[in-house]
Amino acid sequence: MTYYAECRILALTAALAGTMTSLALAQPQPQPAPPKVEGAWMNTSLSPDERADLAIAQMTLDEKIQLVHGVGGRASTAPRSNGGVGMVAGIARLGLPDLQMADSAVGVRAAAERGRYSTLLPSNIGEAATWDPKLAFAYGKLIGRELRDQMYNVSLGGGVDITREPRNGRNFEYLGEDPVLAGKMVAQWIRGLQSQNVIGDVKHYAFNDQETGRSIGNVKLGKRTMRETDLLAFEIAVKEGQPGMVMCSYNKLNGDWACENAYLLDTLLKKTWGFPGFVISDWGGTHSTAKAALAGLDNEEPDFKFFGDALKAAVTNGEVPIERLNDMVHRIVRTEFALGIVDSPPHGRVVDPFGGAEISQRIAERGSVLLKNERGQLPLNGSGIQSIAVIGAHADTGVLSGGGSAQVDAPGTEQSRFGGAPVWFPSSPLEAIRSHAPKAKVEFNDGADPAAAAALAKAAEIAIVFVNQPTSEGRDAPTLALPYKQDELVSAVAAANPRTIVVLETGGPVAMPWIGRVSAALEIWYPGIRGAQAAANILFGDVNPSAKLPVTFPRSDSDLPHPEIPGIALMPKQPPFVRMPDFDIDYTEGLKVGYKWFDAESIEPLFPFGYGLSYTTFAYSGLKASFDGVTFTVANTGQRDGEEIVEVYAGLPAPAGEPPKRLVAWDKVALAAGESKTVTLALDPKFLSIFDERKDEWELLPGEYKIFVGGSSRKTPLTAVVRH
Ligand code: BGC
Repeated sequence: MTYYAECRILALTAALAGTMTSLALAQPQPQPAPPKVEGAWMNTSLSPDERADLAIAQMTLDEKIQLVHGVGGRASTAPRSNGGVGMVAGIARLGLPDLQMADSAVGVRAAAERGRYSTLLPSNIGEAATWDPKLAFAYGKLIGRELRDQMYNVSLGGGVDITREPRNGRNFEYLGEDPVLAGKMVAQWIRGLQSQNVIGDVKHYAFNDQETGRSIGNVKLGKRTMRETDLLAFEIAVKEGQPGMVMCSYNKLNGDWACENAYLLDTLLKKTWGFPGFVISDWGGTHSTAKAALAGLDNEEPDFKFFGDALKAAVTNGEVPIERLNDMVHRIVRTEFALGIVDSPPHGRVVDPFGGAEISQRIAERGSVLLKNERGQLPLNGSGIQSIAVIGAHADTGVLSGGGSAQVDAPGTEQSRFGGAPVWFPSSPLEAIRSHAPKAKVEFNDGADPAAAAALAKAAEIAIVFVNQPTSEGRDAPTLALPYKQDELVSAVAAANPRTIVVLETGGPVAMPWIGRVSAALEIWYPGIRGAQAAANILFGDVNPSAKLPVTFPRSDSDLPHPEIPGIALMPKQPPFVRMPDFDIDYTEGLKVGYKWFDAESIEPLFPFGYGLSYTTFAYSGLKASFDGVTFTVANTGQRDGEEIVEVYAGLPAPAGEPPKRLVAWDKVALAAGESKTVTLALDPKFLSIFDERKDEWELLPGEYKIFVGGSSRKTPLTAVVRH
C-alpha cells in the first residue's frame, strides 16, 4: 500500500467514525530538503522589501516574467505541481519556491485526487453568523495548517463580496451583507491562515456579487456607493487582515474589467490603502497586457496569454516600463519573504481529522441560527420523547456542502467535478438525533412524497424536516424559493404534526411561506463535517444557540431591489451557449444594501439582519453614549447560561442622505443565568463617516447621530442621540 493510500484510509476511518478520540496516525512523509541557497537576500535579519530587492537584482528578464504568470490552464498536472488549481514556477537557484495554490474557502479543495483528507468547515456565511472574530481566526488557521500539511503555500479563499444579491450562488463563500462585519471577519480569517506561513488572499475584487453573467456583466455605480458598501469590506480586510494577495474579479466595473481597472487596483488598493502585496487575476480574468500591467495587475492566472511572451515584448519595446515589471516581481517576492514561505516551507504531514472536526463542529454550533421557537418547542428533551419522524434532505446519511471551486471532497469519494451533483458529507442527522433520544422510535422518510412524509409525521410525537438549497459557483439560485417542491413538503408535514421543526441547509436566505405553520426553525447553512452533531446538540439543548443572521431573509423576491437577478433574462436557457454580449448591472439601490434597503423602504423582512434566538432571554438597560463609544448593561433574564451578540447601530444626520441605520460595533457576551454585565464598545469614526466624492475622502458630518443598541437590527431597545 502506498503512503498516500495508507493516510487516506486512516483519515477516512477517522472521519467516518462517530467518536474521534484517539488514533495514532502515520508519521509525516519525509520531504526532500529545500536546496540550500547562499545569497544576501536569504539574510532573515533584513526586511522583506530589502530581501526582495536583493533577489530581483540577480534575476534575468525571463526569470522576472516567469514569476508574474501561472504555468498554464492545466496547472494541476504541470511538472512539479502539487495538484492544486494554480502554480507559479519559482526560481530554484535563488531559493524562491514554486507557488502551489489550492482553492480553500471552506477547506482544502481537491484533496481526494492526492489521496488526502481535508476538513470541511461550515460555509463562510455560517462563520459570519458567529459574529466572532476569534472563531474566524481559528477557521483560517485550520485551513492554513491543512494547506501546509498538503504541501501548499498559497490559499485561494477569503471571499468577501457583499451579499447584495441574496440569490448569488456563492453567498455561502461570503460573509454576509454588512461591510463592517464581513471585513472584520475575513481579516481575522486571513490572519489565522497566514499565521501558518501560507499566503492568503481576499477575493473577488470587486463587485462580483452575482454569478449570472459574471464574466460579461458591467457593474455600474458611483464612487460613494462603492466606497461605503463592498469596497469598505475590502478596505477593512486589506488593512486589518494584511493578506499577501488580492484576487481581482471577472466582471467589469464602470466599463473596465476589474483586472485592468486602474481605479480599483492602483489608485485605491495600492496607493490609497497602501497594499504592499500582489494582485492576481481570477482564473481567466486577464484581458490585456499593457493595460492590465499598468493598471496594477501583478500576476496572470492560470495562464500566460498576456503576461508571458506578450509582456516580455511590451517591456522590451517600452510599452510597459521595466520599473513596473520590477514592481510586480517585488510585490510577489516580498510577500514570499514576509509570510515565511521561503524560510519555513511546508512539510507534508497527515492531516489531523480529529482536531479539524472539533473546530468545524464548534463553528457550526456557534454559527447555526435559531429562527423560530414557538412555546419553547426547543430544546427537545431527549429522554422524554417517544417518537420522532426525521424527514427529507438525505438526513439519513449526510449534510450538504457548497459547489464550485470551494467544493471540498467528501471522505471516501473520488474528486468531485466542478458543476457536478451536490456533494453530501457523511454526518448523519438521523444518527445524531437517535443518539440524543435513545429510547425514542426515530424513523426516516426521504420527503420525495409529501403525503407519505406527512403520514409518518402524523404518527410521531415530533417531526423534524430537513430542507436544502444546493448552491454553487457558476450559477445563481433562480429565486428565493426552496427547490424540489420542499415548500409543499414542509406544509404537508406541518399540517400533519403541530410539533414540526424545520432545519435548513441553505447557501443563503430563502423564503419560507410555511413559517407561520411550523413551531421551530433552525438555519444551519452548509454545516461542515460534523454538521449533524452540531445541529443535534442545538436541537437537544447541549448547546445554547447564539448565532445571528449576517444577511436579511426577505419574504419574497418581489421585496428585493431587483426582483429578478440582473441579466438573468438575457442568459441562454439551453445549448448552444453562445457568447453573450456584455450587459450592465445597474446597482440602482446604491447604498441600500441588505437591511439598509428594507429599513429605508419600510419593508418588513421575514427575519432581519442581526436576528437570532437563544434558549435564554436577554434584557438591555442603562445606555450611556458619546461620539467615542457606548456603555450599557446586558442581563441574562432566563434560566440558562447563554451568549448574546450585542449590536450597535448608528443613524447619521439627515443631510448625510444615508439609509436609517448601519452596524458600527458589536460584541459577544457570555452570561450565566441571571448574570448581567456592563459592556463598553468604542465607536470607530470611520464607520460613522460618509465618503465625500468631491473631496475624495471620508468625512464626519456635523449634526445629531442616533445610536441604537440591541440584539438585532430591528430590535434595539436602547437609543440615544449624540452630537458631533
Ligand atoms: C473562481 C475563484 C477560484 C478560481 C480557481 C475561479 O473560477 O472564481 O474563486 O479561486 O476559479 O479555482
